[in-house]
Amino acid sequence: MHNAAFKVLGLDWVYLAFNVEPQWLPDAVVGIRALGFKGVNVTIPHKEAILPLLDEIDPLAKLIGAVNTVVVKEGKLVGYNTDASGFWRSLKEEGVDPQGKEALVLGAGGAARAVAFTLVERGCSKLYIANRTYNRAQELAEALKEAGPVSIEPLPLEEGPLSTILPEVDLIVNTTSVGMGGKGGELPLRADKLEARHIVYDLVYNPPSTKLLEMARSKGCRAISGLSMLLYQGAEALTLWTGREAPIEVMKQVLEELL
Ligand code: ATR
Repeated sequence: MHNAAFKVLGLDWVYLAFNVEPQWLPDAVVGIRALGFKGVNVTIPHKEAILPLLDEIDPLAKLIGAVNTVVVKEGKLVGYNTDASGFWRSLKEEGVDPQGKEALVLGAGGAARAVAFTLVERGCSKLYIANRTYNRAQELAEALKEAGPVSIEPLPLEEGPLSTILPEVDLIVNTTSVGMGGKGGELPLRADKLEARHIVYDLVYNPPSTKLLEMARSKGCRAISGLSMLLYQGAEALTLWTGREAPIEVMKQVLEELL
């Protein structure tokens, strides 16, 4: 989508993907400047680990504790978070208002931080954070105290605790990589605990429909894929790098064709 956007904007730029192993992250970050890049996106599993390696962090990204976009500004590496605004824009587009809703976030990584922060900031009444590694859920719950006066409860990502809270939850957001790339693995959510009133949002965008979303649809729930968040976080990143308005329609068309 970025390459299509660059073309439309008449920029002789290219967007490439690099698979960086965790032990090489510091070297890769040094390379951003050395190679003369305009910026990069940062994704799983580096969104938190990159913070201490940057020169400056935008206040929102600092508050969230995760960076998904880096801009090289006058030789300085500046970290931003466009996941939060991308998530919020996609919620608005879907007509979902978190105000007064109880929400369950699955996962406690970089993407979860942006989502959970947005839900608290936008007035959810209660937030559960369920993660495979329980202490990461606890850490995120603790960090979110700064975002607003909302009751936040960490949970282990297990069938029992999730089944107990589902009757009171309105919105369920999967931020884990379970289902990404069509890979196996299943979330411990029981179909018989889902009700038609649940709104189920899966940040996974590849494939566009996941097992979780199919299960949600089969129970009559509203099911939202990660495609529009992918689009909007990307559009904002593009504006940060280029200073230009993102050609949303072109980017959307490419995403839909590819995915
Ligand atoms: P991102 O920045 O994209 O959120 P991340 O910080 O590496 O990436 O987080 C990935 C999330 O997916 C984490 O919540 C991770 O759980 P752990 O904290 O226990 O690692 C979750 N995750 C990845 N694979 C998983 C799996 N097979 N089952 C459950 N959760 C998984």
